[in-house]
Amino acid sequence: MPGLIEELAQLRLMAERELAQADDPAALEAFRVSWLGRKAGRVTAVLRGLKDVPIEERAGIGDAANQLKANLTALFEARLAGTVGVSDDRPAGLDYSRPGLRPSTGRAHPITQTLDRILEILTGMGFTPVSGPEVETVENNFGALNIGPEHPSRQPGDTFFLTPDVLLRTHTSPVQVRAMRAQEPPIRICCPGRVYRREAVDATHLCEFHQVEILYVDRGVTMRDLKGCLSTFARLMFGADTRTRLRPSYFPFVEPGAEVDVTCFLCRGSGCRVCKGSGWIEILGAGMVHPRVLANVGYDPDVWTGYAAGMGVERITMLRHGVTDIRYFQENDLRFLEQF
Ligand code: PHE
Repeated sequence: MPGLIEELAQLRLMAERELAQADDPAALEAFRVSWLGRKAGRVTAVLRGLKDVPIEERAGIGDAANQLKANLTALFEARLAGTVGVSDDRPAGLDYSRPGLRPSTGRAHPITQTLDRILEILTGMGFTPVSGPEVETVENNFGALNIGPEHPSRQPGDTFFLTPDVLLRTHTSPVQVRAMRAQEPPIRICCPGRVYRREAVDATHLCEFHQVEILYVDRGVTMRDLKGCLSTFARLMFGADTRTRLRPSYFPFVEPGAEVDVTCFLCRGSGCRVCKGSGWIEILGAGMVHPRVLANVGYDPDVWTGYAAGMGVERITMLRHGVTDIRYFQENDLRFLEQF
């Protein structure tokens, strides 16, 4: 598209130069025929060629070509009427027929766009969005989630503690705890939000990022329900031919726990740079809610079972758009943001 747009700018310069040199009626008529003529006009030709431009670029190029045509027509008519170059009090060298600067328009941040899409899918699947505070108790963030005092994430080197009992939440899982304490089962929620970790910031780590949590607790919920939920989500998020696989993993608040991969949406599974040749990309952590967590919030683990999952919004956005450095999302450089 930049190619054609540049070509239009070049055409414009050429046409303006020719028009400036056309100083008798015959030359002006020749200009009209060769540039604006219905049959052989060069601008008309561009507009006619639009049908070969890919559909998503057509509107932009069509606008530019129409604008060029309107500008040249105006210039031509002004020249024909003998008004160009005739004395007026406007500063010389300013071309009032040129289009104005295009006002820049705002848009949603790429993280917001991904978040909106994730929530659109999850609410469509019956999950009610719930939010919780970013300043959280150690009990909700760790204790109730069966994360023992010896766990490395409880070290002050990994987590921002505000007091010994209060911290900036390190994941959205404490919202599970709050929601379950506030409501009798069954429960089906999703929890978007900002989380904080004491990381050395680099291309794949920020101290402040976003997660979405999923929680479903009911009678007789099994791992099959989890797999069904995740594969439906993945197909809606990444495309209908996306497949999902669970790899055994460990999180203290689920048992069994899994890391969840989807087939690489770039190479579709054959292996590429994004999936590091494996054909699979890890997108979230998940598992069956640990009976101890259910007991901690007052749900009877002999009656109720459930699954939970948590995903990183920055990571998914990077994978979706091939962004190689997570820091771009925080720098707010318009040259980056305007691409989304
Ligand atoms: N809370 C986990 C994390 O931040 C993700 C997770 C959520 C894993 C729910 C399992 C179940 O890494």
